[in-house]
Amino acid sequence: MTMGGSLDQARALMMIPQSVVYLNAGSFGPLPRSVYETVAGFRHELACDPAAFLLRRVPGLLWHARTCLADHVGCDAHRLAFSTSVSAAVSMIAASLELCTPGEILLSDQEYQTMRWCWERVAARTGLRLRTFGLPSGACTEDDLLDSAVREMRATTRLVFFSHVISGTGVILPAARICEQAQARGIVSVVDGAHAIGAIPVVLRDIPCDFYVGSCHKWLLAPSGSSFLYMGRAGEARLHPQTISWGDGPDRAAESPGQDVPDIHGSTPRLRRLECEGTRDICPWLAVPDAVAFHRAIGVNRMLAYRRTLAQDARARLEALKGVEAATGSATEATNGMMGFALPRGVAAGAVQRMLWEHYRIEVSVGGLGDRGMLRVAPHAYNTATDIAVLADGLERVLHALREP
Ligand SMILES: Cc1ncc(COP(=O)(O)O)c(C=O)c1O
Repeated sequence: MTMGGSLDQARALMMIPQSVVYLNAGSFGPLPRSVYETVAGFRHELACDPAAFLLRRVPGLLWHARTCLADHVGCDAHRLAFSTSVSAAVSMIAASLELCTPGEILLSDQEYQTMRWCWERVAARTGLRLRTFGLPSGACTEDDLLDSAVREMRATTRLVFFSHVISGTGVILPAARICEQAQARGIVSVVDGAHAIGAIPVVLRDIPCDFYVGSCHKWLLAPSGSSFLYMGRAGEARLHPQTISWGDGPDRAAESPGQDVPDIHGSTPRLRRLECEGTRDICPWLAVPDAVAFHRAIGVNRMLAYRRTLAQDARARLEALKGVEAATGSATEATNGMMGFALPRGVAAGAVQRMLWEHYRIEVSVGGLGDRGMLRVAPHAYNTATDIAVLADGLERVLHALREP
């Protein structure tokens, strides 16, 4: 890796076209050239001689990728299974767990829509009730966030699911403290770290959760198709793969000894059982070390501080626009450097997103929150204050055009 570890050079190391203002790392992270070249190189090897690559090269590369990611997120490698997406990992957890009924599943009221659907399906299948705890909407402390979850935990709560970082606003939840409270009450905790990994420092061994899932393809800037599932306290024997493949023979019962010992496949028997889904392309997983190297070269804390200054700048500029309000109530320091904005009432979110792209080549997420469009600014190390100014200017013109067609 040839990067000099400078924020100034970050943009030059990315593959983003010059004409594009990319402010959407929260949905999909673009790739540093080094990461792209690594994954493309692996795919070349896979294409040339799949047997040599899959049978002889992958095991060493896979264990290296696992230990590198485990080191980055502060956990033991034998508790970390790669997955294709957060959706796949959460679906496996949701399909596997046998929760006592009657009872309830508790979620925050700001969970990612598809994650909510996943738990709704569990509720429909098992008869468990789905209940939400409301996160504070305005400026709040970490204690307020903790209290919002804890005061809704009851003797009948079987599982709590929440985002480490809220996807619409970037607000960081006190994951370790919420999990501690869940653990004390015998409640299974599942943490969605989609917006935490690569965005804020994460030390999984300090979070007493049952399961933690994370995306590598967003803030970490690894290829699409790279995510992971971390098994915390005693959760491992409760998981069952959704696809039966080579890891799942009769001799591989989850409770049998040796489950956590590294094997010849770059896994452990327990991890291989969860990861192996037949023959497929796992090159994105193998390129994760390059994404980690990109982050380490600049520094996770340095990037976070920089992203927060950009988010602060976005707040100052966008809130100056008529009808636009910050939807992130908390101080920028309480976020992962992402900022949500409610758009003026009556303005169609889809039209704003389309026009920002078509007229200004600005890539930004615009969704809906109740009756208002919600624009999310998700800057990364490769963005600059100029990008934020271009967004503010473009948004002002788009809103003007939509008000007065
Ligand atoms: C909070 C959150 N959870 C889960 C997901 C789903 O992630 P994936 O697309 O990797 O399945 C997303 C995607 O944006 C997200 O923002």
